Amino acid sequence: MIKVGIMTISDRAYRGEYEDESGPLIRRIIEERLPGAHVALTSVVPDDFRFIKAGLRQWCDEAQLDLILTTGGTGFGPRDVTPEATRAIIEREAPGLAEAMRAASLRVTPHAMLSRAVAGIRGHTLIINLPGSPKAVRENLEVILTALPHAIALIRGEGSRPEEHRHPG
Ligand code: MTE
Repeated sequence: MIKVGIMTISDRAYRGEYEDESGPLIRRIIEERLPGAHVALTSVVPDDFRFIKAGLRQWCDEAQLDLILTTGGTGFGPRDVTPEATRAIIEREAPGLAEAMRAASLRVTPHAMLSRAVAGIRGHTLIINLPGSPKAVRENLEVILTALPHAIALIRGEGSRPEEHRHPG
């Protein structure tokens, strides 16, 4: 089973000024398209560095999730701090995921270059930032979805036998 957390990061959704559509959309896509996925936790948090960092850390260290998908707060606005909060808690970066999403998204919109999304690993948890709009969520998730089962297997140490990595000499 793949335990998933979905964190919507938005001041306005947190204050109830609009309904979070991106979190539920991620949930639908993940449940339909990621085999074995179970959405264990969801939350809506404000664009606040300490809030985001504490939430991510708890989901990694205590809830022991396999995968955390965040949505929102990756742009250039003064309160867009999702990448900084993510970087503050990851132990290893996974730049290929963010690079692939930006590269594919650039074919859809030049505004793709305005996403500062990062991805990385803390313990056994893979954390991936997605932009905020439902359209961006759909387009970005589409790019990485097929790589996620192998990514999670590798983090668990299930991806390959250790002898395959050993130097013959
Ligand atoms: N990527 C895709 N595929 N489609 C989009 O519509 N929107 C962009 C970008 N990435 C977009 C996208 C825009 S307009 C912005 S500002 C950045 O993501 C950051 O979005 P965020 O601040 O909501 O996280």
